[in-house]
Amino acid sequence: MCGIVGYIGNKFVDSVLVVGLERLEYRGYDSAGIATISSGELFVCKKKGKLKALNDCLKEAGLGGNIGIGHTRWATHGEPSEINAHPHTDCKNEIAVVHNGIIENYQTLKEDLVARGHFFKSETDTEVIPHLIEENISEGLETAVRKAVAKIKGSFSICVISESEPDKIITAKFGSPLVIGLGKNENFIASDVTAILPHTKQVIVLNDGEIGIVSEEKITVTTPWGDTINKEVETVSWKAEDIEKGNYQFFMQKEIFEQPKIIETVISKKVTAGNIITLEEMNLSNNYLAKVKRIIIQACGTSWHAGLIGKYWLEKYAHIHTEVDVSSEYRYRNPIAEGDTLMLAISQSGETADTLAGIREGKSKFIKVLSIVNVVKSTIARESDGIIPIMAGPEIGVASTKAFTAQLTALYLFALQLGKLNYTISDTEAKNKLEGLIEIPKIMNAVLKRQDEIIKLSEKYYQKKNFIFLGRGINYPNALEGALKLKEISYIHSTGYPAGEFKHGPIALICEDTPVICLAPKDELYIKMISNIEEVKARKGKIISIATQGDTRIQSLSEDVFFIPECHEDISPIVTVLPLQLLAYHIAVKLGFDVDKPRNLAKSVTVE
Ligand code: AGP
Repeated sequence: MCGIVGYIGNKFVDSVLVVGLERLEYRGYDSAGIATISSGELFVCKKKGKLKALNDCLKEAGLGGNIGIGHTRWATHGEPSEINAHPHTDCKNEIAVVHNGIIENYQTLKEDLVARGHFFKSETDTEVIPHLIEENISEGLETAVRKAVAKIKGSFSICVISESEPDKIITAKFGSPLVIGLGKNENFIASDVTAILPHTKQVIVLNDGEIGIVSEEKITVTTPWGDTINKEVETVSWKAEDIEKGNYQFFMQKEIFEQPKIIETVISKKVTAGNIITLEEMNLSNNYLAKVKRIIIQACGTSWHAGLIGKYWLEKYAHIHTEVDVSSEYRYRNPIAEGDTLMLAISQSGETADTLAGIREGKSKFIKVLSIVNVVKSTIARESDGIIPIMAGPEIGVASTKAFTAQLTALYLFALQLGKLNYTISDTEAKNKLEGLIEIPKIMNAVLKRQDEIIKLSEKYYQKKNFIFLGRGINYPNALEGALKLKEISYIHSTGYPAGEFKHGPIALICEDTPVICLAPKDELYIKMISNIEEVKARKGKIISIATQGDTRIQSLSEDVFFIPECHEDISPIVTVLPLQLLAYHIAVKLGFDVDKPRNLAKSVTVE
């Protein structure tokens, strides 16, 4: 939930750290701070609010030096404030620490430290770390850090610098992501690769329990007890321009418009000539997959919505009973899982704590785990038996868009693959469905070209205080997704319902001032959806329909209609979600909000 960076080398440390934090700000932006060591002295500069406030402070402070650490915060313990901002220091202000994660036993640690004479400045859990290090600093920084982390329970990735040894950064990882970037006479540390991409593509990914000792010329990685580990240096496939906004005002808009190209890439990489679906990274044999009798999908937020849609395809094409659960519920409900159960975890970041815990719960019951992920070096990817990469490129906007439609594409291909393995769909059927999928990027482009129609809708409705989204069948999850997009970036109360459920109570919410967005493409449930729309209209609800081109009937029932081109009904969610993404985006822009960094949110929820 926070972003941490570290740098040691020959560049101006504060500029490298600030640029790194700018690229990590999507992980949390309640406050930011950096610490450097210059001429043997530790300097700390930190500010509440986004990075701009810190930049102003840095200009005044004129920090120098060739070593430093930085942090951008999503508050867990202690309100967003300057005193709670990281870095945190020891009693003598000689040791500085930045931390991503949660220290579950910090109260006990803090009481013991206070009893031994340490004094604390903040309300954070993090501040116990520099004081724990201080207690053993006389034994050397590396040993002191090792002893400190041994006392911590919870999740953490940390960077530590000290006046006593100003030629190295000590870093440690347990539960929250951390990578080390290799440069020439300089090295980098960050929560994820986006912060170091402009400098290097060569990275070492730390695993849980590993400790890094990073100097200008050398990187050593050890076990918690000090044994050196030979780590593989990996090359990042993403490019620096992938994390630039280009001509777009916000990353979210850029990522919405990247979707057709990404779907084309996913299809081209996973569907060979003759329409054979190759999902080789799955690392699960056809023999094993053919024996799978039950699938449990567990995910959070938008990824959970993708899972809800995936269920329709897995049951329809592969005839496999599929359950879908939010990770935060799955992990605690002592789920039943037998050997023929396959877990499908879906996560864009690959670092969501609840989804990771769900995977560990499944593995504790000896079931295999297949993850659909965007970040292939992520913790979830590493802890799964196999992965299906969605290849959407770095998704910076906190509101997930391109990852969602790429997840749907991967789920669709996986369902077809299982159907072929189980002989529940013929090769001809699979070929026809693939042809329908191959048409989707063109249809998506046609929809995105009509952005102006959505802008007009946003101008008409942006001051409404409540929205309801309705959908049926395979488009019901998109009612949830549309509601989530709108609420998380415009802060407008919005709810998604299965349209058939609406009359069982929620219809009482209908009034003239509550727009009801109805997903009503021509499909097998269209007639039922029309009945639900009639029910809303009879109560003077304002209806905005997403409908199939040429549908005059829906036009007569709706205040406004956004038409989408005809497409195979099973894959319509990949198209119907686009106007919902654009509507949420333009309403939020109209309201003047920071679309990429909405309040209270962070891109990757690495804490419970
Ligand atoms: C989606 O717009 C949200 N930002 C959020 O719900 C997100 O989908 C959820 O936190 C899951 O993230 P993940 O896909 O990285 O696991």
